[in-house]
Amino acid sequence: MNKKNIRFASASVDFYFGTSFGTLKQIVDPSRTILITDQNVWDLHQKRFRGWKTIVVPPGEASKVQATVDTVINQLIQMAADRTYSLVGVGGGVVTDLTGYIASVYMRGIPFGFVPTTVLALVDASIGGKNGIDVGAYKNMVGVIRQPRFILQDIIFLNTLPQKEWANGFAEIIKHAAIANASVFRYLEEHGPAYFQKHKKEACALIQKNALLKAAIVQKDEEERSLRKLLNFGHTLGHAIENAYGLSHGEAISIGMAKAADISSQLTGFKGSSRLKELLQRYHLPVSHSFNTDAVIRILSADKKKDGNAINYILLEKIGKAVIRPIPIVDFQKYLS
Ligand SMILES: NC(=O)c1ccc[n+]([C@@H]2O[C@H](COP(=O)([O-])OP(=O)(O)OC[C@H]3O[C@@H](n4cnc5c(N)ncnc54)[C@H](O)[C@@H]3O)[C@@H](O)[C@H]2O)c1
Repeated sequence: MNKKNIRFASASVDFYFGTSFGTLKQIVDPSRTILITDQNVWDLHQKRFRGWKTIVVPPGEASKVQATVDTVINQLIQMAADRTYSLVGVGGGVVTDLTGYIASVYMRGIPFGFVPTTVLALVDASIGGKNGIDVGAYKNMVGVIRQPRFILQDIIFLNTLPQKEWANGFAEIIKHAAIANASVFRYLEEHGPAYFQKHKKEACALIQKNALLKAAIVQKDEEERSLRKLLNFGHTLGHAIENAYGLSHGEAISIGMAKAADISSQLTGFKGSSRLKELLQRYHLPVSHSFNTDAVIRILSADKKKDGNAINYILLEKIGKAVIRPIPIVDFQKYLS
């Protein structure tokens, strides 16, 4: 077990890297803990849930909505879960977002932890305390910032992860490298996705490095007043097209990053746009999509990152260095077309 306690402004979180799922019994009391997972993870890993009270939700982004929250809360009431209980989300980002949100509002807040089972959730969604749900095409429109007590990483779950979900996870890994770590970017260029799928030790090290990279940014700015905004690279456009076009989160932010790189070329003199797009494509991610500009602008106008009539947009100056620039919403029309 490789345990590391990381202190954020609001709370400290125990990270259990490379730790067997079986250890969960030592971290929380099984008699007062309810696991939340989705149908796919349940079907593939049912035996691991033996001995745990478990709530299973339908898989996919469509579940990250208030209706699922209501259903789970009704089940918690039926199971007589009181404030001495903990919730543990075992799944991808949909399950960790849902679990963190439900635990934050159920009985005005009960403790929770995460066992992320996708690459995306391991390196990103489970870390940082943002837990929220969607409202129609508006991603993460309702939510809280509240830290989990712990995050347990056991990459055994990745043995069943479909190819497409590896690509989705690499979108966030490439994002981290593009905004904050040029040497990880080069390392990703040296090896392709097949290398990390085959070499689990290297995949585990890359995941841990990325998780710590995100945690370090959140440590400096938990409330997203400045530095944490850089993690939204690719997310402004990405979120605006994700639900509207039924894209996965990784696909949507990959397209968003490619567009932001092109805009960076015009606004910051960024020279690495082709290099970034090549890396995204190498990791089986899309770099363009046709969309209705007016509809996207409408969604952007309700974006949480909006500041007056401008969007705080994340641009690259060079690989490994991102900056925040306000871009008037009216100018977006020009950049998006
Ligand atoms: N809170 C945050 O800071 C944050 C950051 C990034 C992304 N997110 C959110 O995370 C979500 C995306 O996360 P995701 O890509 O993990 O999506 P997901 O939870 O939908 O998982 C993707 C798919 O993989 C399946 N799956 C999960 N683990 C598996 C396993 N081990 N084996 C086989 N199948 C498995 C799921 O059932 C699902 O079909 C989005 O809703 C996004 O908004 C949140």
